[in-house]
Amino acid sequence: MPGFYRDDHQLACDGVPLAPLAADLGTPLYVYSAGTIRANYQALDAAFGAHPHAIHYAMKANSALALVRLMRGLGAAADANSAGEIDVALRAGFEPSQIVFTGVGKTRVELERAITLGVKAINAESAGELTRIDALARQLGTRARVALRINPDIDAGTHPHISTGRHENKFGVPVDEAVAIFGAAAQWPHLSLVAIHSHVGSQVTDTTPIGRAAEIAAGTARRLIAGGARLEYVDLGGGFSISYDGLPVPTPADYAARMLPPMRALGLPVVVEPGRFLIGPAGILLARVVDVKTRSGGRRFAVLDAGMTELIRPALYGAFHRIEPLQPRDAAPVLHEVVGPLCESSDVVGSDRALPPLEVDDLVAIRDTGAYGFAMASNYLRRPLPAEVLVDGGTWHVIRRRQTIDDLLALEE
Ligand SMILES: Cc1ncc(COP(=O)(O)O)c(C=O)c1O
Repeated sequence: MPGFYRDDHQLACDGVPLAPLAADLGTPLYVYSAGTIRANYQALDAAFGAHPHAIHYAMKANSALALVRLMRGLGAAADANSAGEIDVALRAGFEPSQIVFTGVGKTRVELERAITLGVKAINAESAGELTRIDALARQLGTRARVALRINPDIDAGTHPHISTGRHENKFGVPVDEAVAIFGAAAQWPHLSLVAIHSHVGSQVTDTTPIGRAAEIAAGTARRLIAGGARLEYVDLGGGFSISYDGLPVPTPADYAARMLPPMRALGLPVVVEPGRFLIGPAGILLARVVDVKTRSGGRRFAVLDAGMTELIRPALYGAFHRIEPLQPRDAAPVLHEVVGPLCESSDVVGSDRALPPLEVDDLVAIRDTGAYGFAMASNYLRRPLPAEVLVDGGTWHVIRRRQTIDDLLALEE
């Protein structure tokens, strides 16, 4: 069975029980379900149906080489956010023509790399960046393909830290400025302005702003085409949400129903850049309880061997992740503060969680951590990055071994 499920009360993934895996490989441990990744990719692909579309996997969500390869095998293209991610995409087998390069502050070195490779598009963020790309393309004796990111001034209704489409946010250029830029395209003779790009936020659980952003992007594209622009596609970014708490969220079909009508009327292919939707629910973080203490008043702390170094989302955004014991105890649930081992009060994995009383050495699973989990992990306190395992059809592979202290010191004098 693909995904995470209980088999005789034991948590398993794609046919592999997780407790023995954690005992074998140690914790903290990220485990990914290939079956879930496939199902999520196919659901999204099917939602866009016959309308010409390309799914560029947003590698920022999780750029493990094996996972990027898996995405490629499914038919995805790539959305890279740094020169490092471009290189991972190439090593995973993507052609430069399958890579879009996004980023609000690209360096000269990164731009040179993208231009030399000839990526599908550099998603440019400002007129100043266009000028820099044009100058580099001239020096390199080529023409760079560019998509201009518009800022549609839309409140995506998501957490302020992952909301990117408001006027006051740093991303893109206002629509009227985009139209003026295309009108002045002759000043950048070494650029091909091939698309417009928009991304209004991540984990956007309301499809209305997604639909509004698509309408604004299509309306802008129509104005640009009327002015002589030769657009090849419109890139509507990522933002497809997942359910962290088990409550319903919009389906890929719900998003597509909002995005596609303006694109059909426009008659251009659509590009999307999903990260979280594809990989978030396909990942789980396994951790072990290393201490338990009860304060007077009954507050029970369960201290894990994983915390904000392995999963920063709760500390960074107050994000909620379900926490489950691997082998449930037959005891009445009590409220727990499930915390990490770091010397930071923000190092809380989950507050007020009703769980059967956790004991030292118990294993817990932190759900839906495939996206922005390992990718945002750090070596704070000299903590080695955890190992990562990919499970597929009853077998598992370590796709990244646990870091050692020698790895950590390898670059130091
Ligand atoms: C430009 C851009 N595209 C795509 C994504 C991926 O978003 P998500 O993981 O919500 O699909 C992001 C993430 O913030 C982004 O900034």
